[in-house]
Amino acid sequence: LLIGLALGGGALWLYSDAKVSTVGSTGFSNELAVPPLAGSTVRSDGTRVFDLTMRAGEKEFTTGRKTPTWGFDGDYLGPTLRAERGEKVQVRIRNALGEESTVHWHGMHLPARMDGGPHQMVAPGATWAPSWTVDQPAATLWYHPHPHGRTEKHVQRGLAGMFLLHDERSDRLALPKKYGVDDLPVIVQDVKFDGAKFDHGHKTLSDTGFLGNRTMVNGTLDPYKEVGDELVRLRLLNASTARVYDFGFSDGREFALIGTDGGLLEAPTRTDRIRMSPGERAEIVVRMKPGGKTTLRSFPDGSYGDFWSRRFSGGDDSFDVLELRARKTLRTSPELPAELGELEVPDGSDSVRGRFFGLRTSGINGREMRMGRIDETITRGTAETWTVRNEHSTPHNFHVHDVQFRVLEVDGEKPPAELRGAKDTVFVPGNTTVKLAMRFDGQADPDVPYMYHCHLLYHEDLGMMGQFVVVEKGGKAGKVRTPHAHT
Ligand code: C2O
Ligand code: CU
Repeated sequence: LLIGLALGGGALWLYSDAKVSTVGSTGFSNELAVPPLAGSTVRSDGTRVFDLTMRAGEKEFTTGRKTPTWGFDGDYLGPTLRAERGEKVQVRIRNALGEESTVHWHGMHLPARMDGGPHQMVAPGATWAPSWTVDQPAATLWYHPHPHGRTEKHVQRGLAGMFLLHDERSDRLALPKKYGVDDLPVIVQDVKFDGAKFDHGHKTLSDTGFLGNRTMVNGTLDPYKEVGDELVRLRLLNASTARVYDFGFSDGREFALIGTDGGLLEAPTRTDRIRMSPGERAEIVVRMKPGGKTTLRSFPDGSYGDFWSRRFSGGDDSFDVLELRARKTLRTSPELPAELGELEVPDGSDSVRGRFFGLRTSGINGREMRMGRIDETITRGTAETWTVRNEHSTPHNFHVHDVQFRVLEVDGEKPPAELRGAKDTVFVPGNTTVKLAMRFDGQADPDVPYMYHCHLLYHEDLGMMGQFVVVEKGGKAGKVRTPHAHT
């Protein structure tokens, strides 16, 4: 009922002041913060162990104004975790928030009980220590809380961080890879302040949830970054709760798209724009001239197709996101490789089954999320083709846990370049249909579900989410156990 009300499209005119722009008005006066690489220890059995504490803090985004925040280890956001394919990892999450939460490994292929979804709640004061073996290609993944009904709040207070995977191939390729130097995490969030505090209010019956009036990167307002290499790799993460960005550079320069959510593309693709909805990642490489400058900008986007969709997406809005300043002398970077390797996502030809997901005001296929209900039962080791249709004009996107998928079609057409890599989240504009191919080759567990959902966090919280379990051939879904706190 709630989701029906909120997405029902009433009171649209209240949007009249939703259009914002920071283009040309930004001073780029703050040096970009780069999240530190998380320390780890390696146990005698080879397990790499990380420790993360979720806690409240306060941060001066603007000098002299202390904003109450949440963060992992620090005041806002979290350190960057880094692990190699084949490695066994464990992350010990301590919850010092004073309220229960979870930590989900977005984009990670791992057993359902390690996934950090709404069934793996961590009680205040408790520690949860999931472990798994990294079994997927090099990629830019991320982590964030996933408590049912409260994900938007927990993420926008500051709980998010990157989880980078590397492998033999990515180590071998001549790509920029000096973390914080020519390989930069770029966590983009839109924010709004009310004095020193965050204003997380929604616009009345806001159809997409929170939309801010300025952006920050890695928790830095008006950020600039001085670079000393000819080629700079930006790992873009849209960690906003609802806003869609159409990224490009202020001077229109082209860049190379080298990776999407689940890792590297088969080959770099030249483009001048990339559209990203919440939860999506893209790795791009931009060429700098000695002494030159350029600004990463989010442009107004004309491609949404219909007026309301454009309005709700924030696509009319434009932001100066990050200024890159090149030193007078730059280190020479090797040319980008012509080939990056093969995609490890199915192409739909071996799909044994199709499923349909209709996104509309009442949730997914007419049902809102229920913690105790398993919506889909999938046979381990099989590939499937999922058709996702946005059945109204409000924009949505679609994220599937545990897998990376290939976008086969958008409205019956071959997808644009930015959707041709491994993906775990895909934008589904109003009245649009996407077709996705994926394989479920992890562990079977009939009792613990994975999630699929809209990653506009307000929609997810309202119930635009469903649950699937992976079972052995012929197996049945079990009974979902009530979430419990781990100690
Ligand atoms: Cu990024 Cu189900 O989440
Ligand atoms: Cu949605």
